[in-house]
Amino acid sequence: MKVLVTGGLGYIGSHVTTLLLERNHEVIILDDLSNTSLSVLNSIENITQKKPFYEQINLCDAAAVKALFDRHNDVAGVIHFAAHKAVAESVAQPLKYYHNNIEGLLNLLDLLVPKKIPLLFSSSCTVYGNADELPITEHHPVKAAASPYGATKQMGEQIITDCCNAQAGFHAILLRYFNPIGAHTSAQIGEAPQGVPQNLIPYLVEAAAGKRPALQIFGTDYPTPDGSCIRDYIHVMDLADAHIVCLAHLLEKKQTSPTEIYNVGSGKGHSVLEVVTAFEKATGISVPTKIVGRRKGDVLQAYADTTKINTQLGWKTKYSLEEALRSAWAWEQRRNN
Ligand code: WQD
Repeated sequence: MKVLVTGGLGYIGSHVTTLLLERNHEVIILDDLSNTSLSVLNSIENITQKKPFYEQINLCDAAAVKALFDRHNDVAGVIHFAAHKAVAESVAQPLKYYHNNIEGLLNLLDLLVPKKIPLLFSSSCTVYGNADELPITEHHPVKAAASPYGATKQMGEQIITDCCNAQAGFHAILLRYFNPIGAHTSAQIGEAPQGVPQNLIPYLVEAAAGKRPALQIFGTDYPTPDGSCIRDYIHVMDLADAHIVCLAHLLEKKQTSPTEIYNVGSGKGHSVLEVVTAFEKATGISVPTKIVGRRKGDVLQAYADTTKINTQLGWKTKYSLEEALRSAWAWEQRRNN
């Protein structure tokens, strides 16, 4: 089947594209290269020995998006990753996030809804805010967003749900990711943040490689067993597999409602300090750390109840936290060589 992957050269998008190609889908990658590079396309081709279509398009260019669908009028499904995703940057530059993430989605929906092309939307556990109950199920209330980035995910979910309710035959799945980490088993693709990494694992591996000063631990005075925040870290390869399962569910029209929501995580919570220890044990590499104050906007704990995706779609994780951390280190080493 022909599948359009927006943001297909990004961190998660490139891992999903690789799996789609390996499962003999025809893939069109749309990416504006604002947070990645064309070298990722070569890596995908090296891994899969297949060449996806690639078009450098920003979804805010409505005419370009329409022209793409005119050229490819047999797209069976769309996986939508293309969005800015840096929480702190979104606070400083909200309009950059609302224009890119919302306008881009609206331009895409203008084409998908009337054509009833199913959509798989990249959402985030950030929509839950500071969870009232753990593990977090899909029934947990969506809370006021803590950042414009989080608000664009919540608005995106609402916009898509309204379109599914309005247009019979237009279906979508909203995937709420927890914390994706790690890299492809080949170490040819992985997370390559531009500038100083904002997320834990990309900074941790660069500190371990001596490329950055010590990893700052943002607070060890939280009400958790060791005082540091708890998250659900999921191997990006497991997360990519969940997209393949969800896409099949959409394409085979097995949905029970126009919009379905699934949490995608490991289902396990680990603290920042536990992750540092696990990395050192898994790789034998020590990580220089420095305990500092809390980071504004951090939630205390977030880890998924994955019963719904396990039981309804038969998906479950295959990789451990240690395997994810080892893959992140292997990717960092390859980047440095
Ligand atoms: C994890 C933990 C930090 C960096 C965000 C977005 C989420 C998704 C993933 C896009 C926290 C601590 C971090 C560091 C640290 N993004 N930390 N030192 O904030 O859970 O989620 O990124 O989809 O939507 O909200 O991820 O990796 O930034 O932080 O101590 O240098 O690591 O305080 O407890 P987060 P993170």
